[in-house]
Amino acid sequence: MDKLLVHGNSSLRGTVNISGSKNASLPILAATLLTEEPCIIRRVPDVSDTNYMLQILRALGADVERSSGTVRVEAKEISPEAPYDLVRRMRASICVMGPLLARLGKATVSLPGGCVIGDRPVDLHLKGLAGLGADIDVEGGNILIEAKDGLHGNEIDMRGKHGPTVLGTDNLMMAAVLAEGRTVIESAASEPEVLDLANFLIKMGAKIEGAGTRRITIDGVPKLGGAEHTVIPDRIEAGTFMVAAAMVGEGVTVNRVCQDHLEATTRCLESAGHGVQFNEGGDAVTVTRGDAPQGCEISTAPYPGFATDMQAQFTAMFATTPGISVVEDTIFTQRFMHCAELKRMGADIKVDGGRAVIRGVETLSAAPVMASDLRASAALVLAAMGAKGTTEINRLYHIDRGYEHIDEKLLQLGATMERARD
Ligand code: EPU
Repeated sequence: MDKLLVHGNSSLRGTVNISGSKNASLPILAATLLTEEPCIIRRVPDVSDTNYMLQILRALGADVERSSGTVRVEAKEISPEAPYDLVRRMRASICVMGPLLARLGKATVSLPGGCVIGDRPVDLHLKGLAGLGADIDVEGGNILIEAKDGLHGNEIDMRGKHGPTVLGTDNLMMAAVLAEGRTVIESAASEPEVLDLANFLIKMGAKIEGAGTRRITIDGVPKLGGAEHTVIPDRIEAGTFMVAAAMVGEGVTVNRVCQDHLEATTRCLESAGHGVQFNEGGDAVTVTRGDAPQGCEISTAPYPGFATDMQAQFTAMFATTPGISVVEDTIFTQRFMHCAELKRMGADIKVDGGRAVIRGVETLSAAPVMASDLRASAALVLAAMGAKGTTEINRLYHIDRGYEHIDEKLLQLGATMERARD
């Protein structure tokens, strides 16, 4: 199993290019199942989660070709059963359910298991699809879903206890595009990744209005065709490099970003005392470490609020920011595994009831640590670059799920680290 040895006292400078969004790519790849015609998706990041999705598409019968960032999928004849051994590896595989149901009238998808960042139920996905007329059964760990009389448009409120659901909105939208009549999704997720999926579906011939807001209206069409699409930049990868630049940078420019998607990250970095300067086109940003950084309070919220996927990285930054910071995660209240690992490196953090209270220390020191999930592992890499000594980050496969060549990109900026095997 790969581990990463990160040598501390790094300082980063130069430019880095951001990859296409993992979380936009996954549902967009699933949406290619909605048509028998070929689709071409560009800027799909080469990370293990997109590779799992391509394996699932192949297992369902699609013809898949990948050449660097460009993926061609032709799903001429497909099966409704997503195999457990592939699905269990990635929760996001649940988003093949909507397209399979819409195209074939039925689907069998494994019920995703537990996840380290929280309970992660799928009740809202099922509520949405049931609202279109599908019958749902859970048997032997599988969700069996069938719409014997076809799918019919409806008004469906997708609000959950923790706000809207991103992949739940995606699943419902992908089913509704081929349903008969009009579907209105209330309390829809408005994340840029949902809008990117809608834009792809519209290119395929779907009729969708309001994506990117809390109310999406879809008028079903009988058939969709092939389309070409370029995935949006990964705002979480961009945010991670922006935080790295604030922690250990001496002027880092992050290229191929979308300024509008980075407002919350920008606001938080500025309130912590760092400089954030976008170019005129809003597609490149230079982050300068502040002279007098200070702790602050942040709380996660659905987009355009502060992303839960940036919480761990900011926690790592606050670990060495003077003063007291408070980080609250209202979306995944148990997503604080990284704190125990940061404490092994000397951080002063108390976690209680979905909140971490962090008292900034002068410096962290290297320790062997364990990555627990994707964003937690990114937080550990950031912490390790500023620490004293060489930090050994185990279970590196977590980071490879969602960051394309992160070590190569950081090496290019001047960090020192290497992969090693146990
Ligand atoms: N929820 C329910 N019922 C459901 C679905 C969700 O109660 O049926 C709850 C969740 O437990 C959570 C909240 O609703 O408290 C929001 O979860 P959401 O469904 O939006 O999460 P997701 O769609 O499964 C996506 C991203 C996650 C990101 C979340 C929140 C992808 C592939 N994943 O997950 O990304 O944290 O939205 O923004 O898009 C990551 O990239 O590291 C990652 C975990």
